[in-house]
Amino acid sequence: MFIKKLSLENWTNYEKEEFDFSDKINVLYGGNAQGKTNAVEGVFYLSTGYSQKKTNDKNLLTLGKDKGNLALIAQTRYGEVSIEAKLYAKEKKKILLNGVEVKKIGELMGNVSTVFFSPSSLRVVSDAPEDRRRFMDMSISQYKRSYFYALQKYSKIILQRNNLLKTQNYPIIKDTLPIWYMQLAPVAGRIISDRLKFLKELAPKARYYHAYLTDDKEDLQVGFESDYYGEEKDIVNDFLQDLTLGVDGDIEKGYTSIGPHRDDLKLMVNGKSVKHFGSQGQQRTTALALKLAEVEIFKEKHGESPILILDDVFSELDKPRQKKLVEVIKNMQTLITCAYLEEDIFEGVEYKKFKIEEGKRVE
Ligand SMILES: Nc1ncnc2c1ncn2[C@@H]1O[C@H](COP(=O)(O)OP(=O)(O)OP(=O)(O)O)[C@@H](O)[C@H]1O
Ligand SMILES: [Mg+2]
Repeated sequence: MFIKKLSLENWTNYEKEEFDFSDKINVLYGGNAQGKTNAVEGVFYLSTGYSQKKTNDKNLLTLGKDKGNLALIAQTRYGEVSIEAKLYAKEKKKILLNGVEVKKIGELMGNVSTVFFSPSSLRVVSDAPEDRRRFMDMSISQYKRSYFYALQKYSKIILQRNNLLKTQNYPIIKDTLPIWYMQLAPVAGRIISDRLKFLKELAPKARYYHAYLTDDKEDLQVGFESDYYGEEKDIVNDFLQDLTLGVDGDIEKGYTSIGPHRDDLKLMVNGKSVKHFGSQGQQRTTALALKLAEVEIFKEKHGESPILILDDVFSELDKPRQKKLVEVIKNMQTLITCAYLEEDIFEGVEYKKFKIEEGKRVE
């Protein structure tokens, strides 16, 4: 799939601008703080309903304006899709999919899909397990709406359980907790087994891309660390059993100490943990290999590419790796942002350039 047109009005530092993207590589370049990231954020926002920066919607509207509008038209294998977001200073935003207002953000997902790589994507390697779970959750949700709903349901049950524990009414807690757990186990089973399936597909692909980007110098291994493995029904049974046995402990602790909220990814390069021993370059390459693998999985599931967004990625890679990356992405729509346009990286490859200055396209 690809975006044909993006329009931004009162969006961050854009007053009014339009981008007519090519279905191949698009390079948005210009100095710091000119609006490169803001433009690609606009695309991400329209595809997911929230910003990559995770900032409040109010901060995305141009300061001092009452309302803003952003819209895109994309071409997918099923036809044309339009998404529009209306932002208001004093009201909740509205999102329209093909002209019809979207009631639940889940309805938006999967219509126009993006894979976003930015310097902060490094967190998938270097930071807490939560960041790795977020990577899995975002990736799987893009092609499996039932997974997204399972996640939502899981957090809802956990929240209800926390509220229950807060009441400190122990006889009621003891009676009610097992009922929550009966509901929690199937949802947890679904989440863990979907993650397992995802990683089984992801690992060899990430390994392939990591080797490609490093000229076969490095070997990336991706593993799954969870309290549960195996078939979905076994996970559900085992989890339910552990939850039932652990009711007293959970009451004492005030939380549930097992489950998908403890899952993690194990990332090893040449036999060593990338998080603990990896160089900056190895960490960056690992994060990139994971994203490229994610794109590949998406392609297999959907029969078409998602839109790849590479925000400030080149500045982190050496020339040979930059060129290899361009080789991988040259046939899918990619939005690249960078401070300088180094034409030699794109030698022999079709691309369109956009020079950005103070929230405007100047070239
Ligand atoms: N709601 C807003 N209203 C007005 N301006 C905003 C708003 N949000 C962000 N900006 C401004 O947009 C400018 C450009 O931000 P952006 O992150 O897109 O820059 P960039 O071109 O990607 O720069 P860099 O190369 O440093 O990453 C910033 O100076 C920021 O202050
Ligand atoms: Mg930027």
